[in-house]
Amino acid sequence: MPEELAVRIEDLSITYKVSLESKRTFKNALMRASLRQDAKMRTIEAVKHMTLDIPHGSVLGIVGSNGAGKSTLMRCIAGILTPTQGRVAVNGKISTLLALGVGFNPALSGRDNIILGGLASGLSKDEIENKTDEIAKFADLPDGFIDLPVRTYSSGMYGRLSFSVAVSMTPDILLLDEALSAGDAAFKEKSFERMRQLCAEARTILIVSHALATVTDLCDKAIWMHKGAMLDQGKPDKIVDEYLKFLNVGTLPSSYEDM
Ligand SMILES: Nc1ncnc2c1ncn2[C@@H]1O[C@H](COP(=O)(O)OP(=O)(O)O)[C@@H](O)[C@H]1O
Ligand SMILES: [Mg+2]
Repeated sequence: MPEELAVRIEDLSITYKVSLESKRTFKNALMRASLRQDAKMRTIEAVKHMTLDIPHGSVLGIVGSNGAGKSTLMRCIAGILTPTQGRVAVNGKISTLLALGVGFNPALSGRDNIILGGLASGLSKDEIENKTDEIAKFADLPDGFIDLPVRTYSSGMYGRLSFSVAVSMTPDILLLDEALSAGDAAFKEKSFERMRQLCAEARTILIVSHALATVTDLCDKAIWMHKGAMLDQGKPDKIVDEYLKFLNVGTLPSSYEDM
């Protein structure tokens, strides 16, 4: 793909297969076998035929209602999910903050989780050790907590630490899924500032957020996803405006209904 692109998404579709059986029990399996039935499977098309180029240095906002496929798209870009159809190509080092705290091992201390996260994103042990205190400080962890298992953390501490880890790995591409909702007003202010800094460093950032002001303030482009499809893309103001209108009216203009 062209060098100026950070992410190229080509005709991407992602489907989940879910079993409709309420319980996976031995009895259910036997009954099915004796009736010569297959388990009833339902496919959910979480992302449908998406095509999008994301240039290096751009800050992309992704808006859309629950179930629109935003998190699925992010997981696929992160390499956690594989496409059912189409392709995703990524050019650069990715750091992800998906649904808060995913990726932390609850039994390990904050410090060990930071080290693991750092190693996973390609930093050397020395680099990480130098960063650990800074990360803990940014997360406003109470004294001593950095060396306790993260399962003992409050959800606020957990969220702040995940954010702090994700933004300190100096990624080329940063994926944030609803991340800015972590923490109190002071922490929000601080994380917003850090985001601005990353934007200024010309990193590529993808932000999924229900805080639409974040999208208009930070992003230089936005897309609107609905039921797995990308309905529109363009200037954040325009996209957020359209999306708000949709939220207020609750129905789509008829031209969208077929998608
Ligand atoms: N692990 C999963 N297994 C089955 N279906 C899923 C899974 N994750 C998400 N889905 C379904 O895929 C669709 C898109 O979900 P998601 O990507 O989480 O949307 P969003 O983040 O925009 O709320 C929804 O219909 C959701 O129920
Ligand atoms: Mg989501």
